[in-house]
Amino acid sequence: MKGNSLYLDGVSVVFDGFRALNNLSLIVEPGEMRAVIGPNGAGKTTMMDVITGKTRPTAGTVRFGDHDLTRMDEASIANLGIGRKFQKPTVFDALTVFENLELALKAPRGTLAALHWRLGTEAHEKIDETLSEIGLTAGAQDLAGILSHGQRQWLEIGMLLMQDPQLLLVDEPVAGMTDQETEHTAALLRRIAGTRSVVVVEHDLEFVRALGRKVTVLHEGTVLSEGPIDQVQGDPRVIEVYLGR
Ligand SMILES: Nc1ncnc2c1ncn2[C@@H]1O[C@H](COP(=O)(O)OP(=O)(O)OP(=O)(O)O)[C@@H](O)[C@H]1O
Ligand SMILES: [Mg+2]
Repeated sequence: MKGNSLYLDGVSVVFDGFRALNNLSLIVEPGEMRAVIGPNGAGKTTMMDVITGKTRPTAGTVRFGDHDLTRMDEASIANLGIGRKFQKPTVFDALTVFENLELALKAPRGTLAALHWRLGTEAHEKIDETLSEIGLTAGAQDLAGILSHGQRQWLEIGMLLMQDPQLLLVDEPVAGMTDQETEHTAALLRRIAGTRSVVVVEHDLEFVRALGRKVTVLHEGTVLSEGPIDQVQGDPRVIEVYLGR
């Protein structure tokens, strides 16, 4: 498949003498979905901050295809097709699910007036396709304000998909979800990976298992272990610093 690989090599981030990332190296191939786990403070969110240009690395290489992300600002990185989902949804409660997706399509213009523009066929198809991907087709005309916590998170992912990301970064997507919502989220992410790369940070190992992909374990800002979930769960170093707590 064509597309860009995410390439981190020897990345360090130092905050006032504290090493949040320490010689971190990681490659995510086009279309790959990678789960990243690790104890609190391991540097998982900092890694996403470095990829999105929010935090500058003190040392190391961060590339997306041929693009050197360490030399780009957040907006330019987003324009490359790197989307990030934050924990707190930014959906508009007073708009329907459909309207929220429509707004996301026009987000660069950023005004509610955009909603009153005539919606082209292509845009309509894109919204329908996204509704189906996030499993909210039946609720398309519901106000976002009545959605469950899980549904809001899926809508938020849908809003990111409207921007056609090549790489999606998702930090702790299933926090606060019911078991059933967690299962649905794993299925959703499996569906959307493949045509895009996805990096998912999560503490919920049942969820990580349900993703069924390669897992990277971070500890003290660097990769402690990497491989299938069974392998990393059986790794004595992982058990010692993370699982055995
Ligand atoms: N802007 C900052 N200034 C100073 N220290 C920071 C900053 N951002 C993060 N840190 C520190 O860097 C370390 C790594 O934090 P980070 O948020 O990346 O961990 P994490 O793996 O995402 O943890 P969690 O699982 O709790 O979300 C922590 O010790 C944190 O306090
Ligand atoms: Mg974090």
